[in-house]
Parts: sequence; structure tokens; C-alpha cells
Amino acid sequence: MITKDITEHKGKKTNVIVPFKNNIFKIKINKSIEIVIVHNPGEKNFHQDNVGIILEENKILKILSQRYSEVVITKIQHKKDLDRLLKRKPDLVFSGVKYFNFNNDKVWLNDCLEAYGIRYIASSRAALDNESDKNKAKKLIVKANIKTADFFVATPDQHEHSSSIPIPFPLFIKPVKGGDSRGIDSNSVAYNFASFKKKVLEIKTKHNLSSLVETYLPGKEYSVGIFQDSIKGTLRAMPIQIIVKKNINGHRILDFNVKKDDEEKVIAVTDVKIFKKISKLAKEAFKALGGKSLGRIDIKMNERGVPHFMEANLMPGLRKGYFYRSCLLNLDMNYDDMILNIANTGLSSS
Ligand SMILES: Nc1ncnc2c1ncn2[C@@H]1O[C@H](COP(=O)(O)OP(=O)(O)O)[C@@H](O)[C@H]1O
Ligand SMILES: [Mg+2]
Repeated sequence: MITKDITEHKGKKTNVIVPFKNNIFKIKINKSIEIVIVHNPGEKNFHQDNVGIILEENKILKILSQRYSEVVITKIQHKKDLDRLLKRKPDLVFSGVKYFNFNNDKVWLNDCLEAYGIRYIASSRAALDNESDKNKAKKLIVKANIKTADFFVATPDQHEHSSSIPIPFPLFIKPVKGGDSRGIDSNSVAYNFASFKKKVLEIKTKHNLSSLVETYLPGKEYSVGIFQDSIKGTLRAMPIQIIVKKNINGHRILDFNVKKDDEEKVIAVTDVKIFKKISKLAKEAFKALGGKSLGRIDIKMNERGVPHFMEANLMPGLRKGYFYRSCLLNLDMNYDDMILNIANTGLSSS
């Protein structure tokens, strides 16, 4: 909104544009943005496999509406809702939805948007595919010569004897897919064959998933937010350190309960050498997985302080999670600016 004021200037009446608030002129950019969400059948913020980012749609609507001329929230329930969106061809779709389940048919949002030449935030379907299977992601990381803990995939009954386990104990065992530390607890660290078998079986019975088994990394933990520059396309790394208290077994791991109860501490990375090392690793990993616009790379050090890639989040949570805190601690960027930056990067992407 432009506020005009009529003043007397040398006897003539002149139109003056008056600052709206805090000296910001409210001239809106002529772009249409649709914030796309899906119905959530569970309680608030209930996890859905097909949603990478749970958006605070009303808050985002308010923020984007201040800068862009046409911003709406679109809830997609049926295939026809999606068809209508594709026909409207907005300048940008701001969404955390990975795919829709239309009558058990998986339809990937970003695939459709690409096909219709509509811009979106975050990565393409191919990159999201690379990221969500942690085994696949780590294979690409190894191929790109980036350090990651040795690993293999295990199902119950696959390994009959300790001798058939290809890497030495201690091991770290987690579901091969997923996030928010689901399936990760104090039993994820195994020092012997019996506890390895027990955890692999539990992941299968409770989560119906195979296990990714890795060399246990006992060192410091980091997460590096990645923002792609909207004009130059270069990557900016925003590292943070995550400090977790020792659990009953003396391990510092970001398990399900720690994350759920927000028990971890997040601080800036002030050691220049470490900052550079993990920034480089994170940018390389982001590229190796084909990431676009934004993401987060999780890193942990081994016993000698060497950083290793753990996993990537190419649709990082935007609420007050690690991505937001990596923006805040590194760029002093508040929530509104982070949302505006994501939209701007999306609008400028090719
Ligand atoms: N190889 C490992 N060694 C030690 N700890 C690990 C290892 N892999 C994961 N962790 C711990 O488990 C947490 C969750 O693992 P991660 O792969 O990031 O899964 P999620 O997708 O649930 O965030 C990590 O933040 C880290 O604390
Ligand atoms: Mg993680």
C-alpha cells in the first residue's frame, strides 16, 4: 500500500510518498505466489511422509503479502485442485509438499511444476529422491569423494554371525529413511552382535524399515544451512553446532526424545578452521546430491575430529528449527527475512 500525502510546496500541491512504517515504502512487487498445503489428518504438525516442510501457512501468507501483490493459500486435496493450480500458472509455488497421494497414485509436486514451467522453492524430485534414501545419498557422497562413515544396509536375519558384519564395532543403527530422529534412541549405538541384531529387528518391527548401519561417530555434531544466492547461484554455508547432553550410556546423540523435548543447545561455530572445513563439506554434499535453493547438511566428527557427512535435508523445517537458527546465528536474519529470501530465490531460479 502506498500512502500519499498532499503538501504545499512553493505554493503548489505536490504528492509525497510517505513511509508506511519503519521507513519502508510499501510498493509491492507484481508477482503471484501460491502457498500450497495438503490436508493433515492427524493432530497439529503430525508427521506425513509426503510433506518435507510443515509450513506455518498463515504466518507465511502475512509475510509474503507485504512484499508481493498476489499471495494466496491453496489446499490441494484432489487431482483436480492440482490441475487448476497448474492452469493458473502462478509465478511461484511456495510449498513443503513432496508428493500427493491421489487414489494411491504418487504425484510429485515439483515434477508437475517443472513440466508446466512454474517456479518452486527447494529441490527437484530427483534430488529429493537422492536425499530421502540415506543409503542412496551416502553412495553419491562416497562417489563425490566426501567423507562419510562406512556403512551397509541390514534387515533382520540377514547377518547370521558377527563375522558377516563388514565393518567393526561400535556401530550406529538408524532407519534407512525418515527424519526428526524417528527410530533413534540410546540403543542405536551397538558394541556387540546381540545389540546390533536387537536394534535392526526393532527398526523393522516398529517402523517397517531396513536399517542403515554405520561406523559410530563419537565427535562433535554440526548442521550446516545452505542458501543459494538468487542472482549468482553460489552457495552460502551457515554452520551451527548442536550440543547434546550425554545419555545413560555416555553417548551424545540427537535421539528422538532429545529432539522432541528441545533438550539440545545450538550455538554458532566460532572456530575458523572448523567453520571452513564443514562449510566446504556441506556445499560439496549439497552439490553432489543435486540440491537447489536451500537445504541443511548434518555432520558429525569422528574420534579424531574429522567431519563426516551424516545426512542431507533438502526440505529443511522452516519453523524455529535448525535451518532458521543457522540463518539467525550466521546472518542475523530473522524469520520474516528468511521466508522472503526463500521466495526471492525461488522466483529468480531458472
Ligand atoms: N554414524 C553416526 N554416529 C553417531 N551418531 C550418529 C550417526 N548417525 C546419526 N547419528 C546421530 O543420530 C542423529 C539423527 O541421525 P540423522 O541421520 O541425522 O537422522 P534424522 O533424519 O532423523 O535427523 C544425528 O543427529 C546424530 O546425533
Ligand atoms: Mg538429521
